[in-house]
Amino acid sequence: MADLPETLEDWQQTIDSYKTPMDIVWQFSYAISDDKLARLYKRSKQMQWNADEYLDWDIELDPSKPIVEQASGLLKIPLFAKMSQAQRDQFTAHSTAQLLSQFLHGEQGALMTAAALTHAVEDYDAKLFGATQTMDEARHVEVYERYINKLSIVYPLSPWLKKLIDMTLQSGSPAKMMCGMNMVVEGLALGAFHNMHKTTTCPLLKKLTEGVLADEARHVGFGNIYFSSIIKKLHPDDREDVAQFAFEAIKLQVDAQGGPDGKGPREPNPGFLMVLENCNIDPQDFFKAFLESGAGGAFTAKLPPGHIHSFKDLMMPALVRAGAITDRTRALFEAEGIPVHDSLAVLRSMEDVSTGAVAGEIQEDDDLLPNVEAARESSV
Ligand SMILES: [Fe+2]
Ligand SMILES: [Fe+2]
Repeated sequence: MADLPETLEDWQQTIDSYKTPMDIVWQFSYAISDDKLARLYKRSKQMQWNADEYLDWDIELDPSKPIVEQASGLLKIPLFAKMSQAQRDQFTAHSTAQLLSQFLHGEQGALMTAAALTHAVEDYDAKLFGATQTMDEARHVEVYERYINKLSIVYPLSPWLKKLIDMTLQSGSPAKMMCGMNMVVEGLALGAFHNMHKTTTCPLLKKLTEGVLADEARHVGFGNIYFSSIIKKLHPDDREDVAQFAFEAIKLQVDAQGGPDGKGPREPNPGFLMVLENCNIDPQDFFKAFLESGAGGAFTAKLPPGHIHSFKDLMMPALVRAGAITDRTRALFEAEGIPVHDSLAVLRSMEDVSTGAVAGEIQEDDDLLPNVEAARESSV
């Protein structure tokens, strides 16, 4: 998107379209390439759910409660102490909608990526799994759109996340698309969904996230099984090319969020500025108070026990394990001050959800989620 529209109404009317160089691959051998992939496809079929039946859409939302901790955490900034409860509730509703809008648009990107990948992968069983992932992502778009519209309004996609998804869709290679989506974007989403499920007090959002999380764990599992297998078969030059793509995808999000320590300049976020405008909060007052509150960098921040750090626990270990970080790009990460984490404990505990701990029905309790702290402790 060249120029960002100025108003929310203009933004919602915008259609962004482009051509991609993606291949279409017919496959006439219907042989299973990997038993693990065939099992994952079988579980995907068993675990499909219908948002009309699975969720109670009549549940009333209460913005006075911390619907999403990441959004309501901003209320701790002293600026909000001077405001009325009604103003704080309004900010909670709008900032939560803005955050969830990133998930909504990200899910649309995932929907298109999964569909494109289904065309482009060579193996029959990967095409079948890609089709189930496409349906999963369609359901995720549906549930976030319905939830956000109950709460407030849909806000624009952050420019950096749009760039990350566009570079993934335009990469022209299944390996890079899986790297961008199943490793980077879905690693980011899986951690955020886990933390949101853990902290939200809204029963509808909790159950919705539980369903999405179970699906996403399979998608990350697909990345582990299939991306790892295709990257191993690449010519070393092509592997370097994928590793370069992984480096650029990670750097893009680190830069957008003020660098590894969060202290550098941040990319402006038009959606969040619209939230402030809709809540009659002066952006200058807000950002001054935000910086004074000592908000830390997203990549080095210490999280409460049981929370997942997407970058440290999921994204980087998944890239290292798959072979998408080479000696050459490890040096590039080091030069940028971006740590290359490689502990697999939390990642494995998330993947266990998709590889056997939960088979068949979606469950309604926390058994769906891995014990992150236990996984961390068992690895030391
Ligand atoms: Fe999704
Ligand atoms: Fe996904």
